[in-house]
Amino acid sequence: MKTFFILGRNPELSRQEILEFLKARNRIHKEIFFQDNLLIIETNEGERFSIQEFGGVMHLGEITFEGNSEELREYLEKNEIIPSDKFSYATFGNQDTQILKEKFKSEKKKASQKHGRKLLAFQDGHKQENPKADFYIFLHAIENTVYLSIATQTYDPKEVKKRDMQKPIRREILAISPRLSKILINLSGAKPHDRLLDPFCGVGGILSEALIKKINVYGIDKDKQATIDAETNIKWLTQNYKIQNKYKIENNDSRRAPDLQFSAIATETPLGKPLRKKPSDNQAKQIIQNFEAYIIPILRQLKKVKKSQAKIAITFPVIRNLHVDARKIAEKSGLRIRMSPLLESRSDQFISRDLLVLI
Ligand SMILES: C[S@@+](CC[C@H](N)C(=O)[O-])C[C@H]1O[C@@H](n2cnc3c(N)ncnc32)[C@H](O)[C@@H]1O
Repeated sequence: MKTFFILGRNPELSRQEILEFLKARNRIHKEIFFQDNLLIIETNEGERFSIQEFGGVMHLGEITFEGNSEELREYLEKNEIIPSDKFSYATFGNQDTQILKEKFKSEKKKASQKHGRKLLAFQDGHKQENPKADFYIFLHAIENTVYLSIATQTYDPKEVKKRDMQKPIRREILAISPRLSKILINLSGAKPHDRLLDPFCGVGGILSEALIKKINVYGIDKDKQATIDAETNIKWLTQNYKIQNKYKIENNDSRRAPDLQFSAIATETPLGKPLRKKPSDNQAKQIIQNFEAYIIPILRQLKKVKKSQAKIAITFPVIRNLHVDARKIAEKSGLRIRMSPLLESRSDQFISRDLLVLI
């Protein structure tokens, strides 16, 4: 079977997230197509995805038709693709949707095509319509083969937002978004019942998302108050979301992380003091240099306390256009780069992040 994915604002990152998720679970899969924010993956029959597992997928659905345009016309004549009589729909892909309009008209359905007023800004700067509709249709041709699918799942940001907003302790300036937390966890290859370490756990953003994914977690932070707050947040989460998995939070420096042979590490590194104004070139250089000196001993320790094949999904700061030299860091820490740095930035922030995976 083939599944199509409409990816969110950082498509390459989301693509890696899905591929690592499948690899970690030893699920047979093959990437058929990836361009812009469209991805098609072939898997064994019966493969089930749950969209809320991912941080970067907007819609997904099984491909129900694959063939040439003549066959598509025949398929549409014989098959009902949307059962309701009155609905709105939005389309993705490179094909003219006139054929759908004609179909709905001939079936006397009141179907209105939506074009989002709010644009979705992608990491590379381009913008795309982000319509809200009852149904999302994927109609895309690769050479002479047309693919058709109706999304069966759409990401529900409300559920995640509610959880994030209701937790007892929020630390807005420092805390990572649930979206990036999920992406880092999936990139780390952590699976249910694995033990995942976050060596800079803060108030527990990544730990919480991992617990929701039925992963056992271990968090370390050198800031005592952060660990108290993480404990409060996680207690609240386990009570409100019926979580059975184990968690432990330790107030310690990660250079002394305990050797528990972790199965995965996912973490957001400290980016230094919040910057109020744009740093000069020299200041930016200094911040990056300090970061490099500071992270190497920690990574060396992480290497010792994880299983040899366990992955470290981590953020490195990017200040103005200055990046941390990931190759040098990996080499000095005795690690290898499994996924090269992918930039995650927002135009309204001086500090961005590279996300990468070390092993
Ligand atoms: C960017 S914050 C992480 C925020 C976290 N993802 C959250 O959801 O709250 C980085 C954290 O690393 C902690 N930290 C910095 N250096 C550390 C070290 N050497 N060992 C352990 N924790 C450290 C800081 O106290 C801070 O809470």
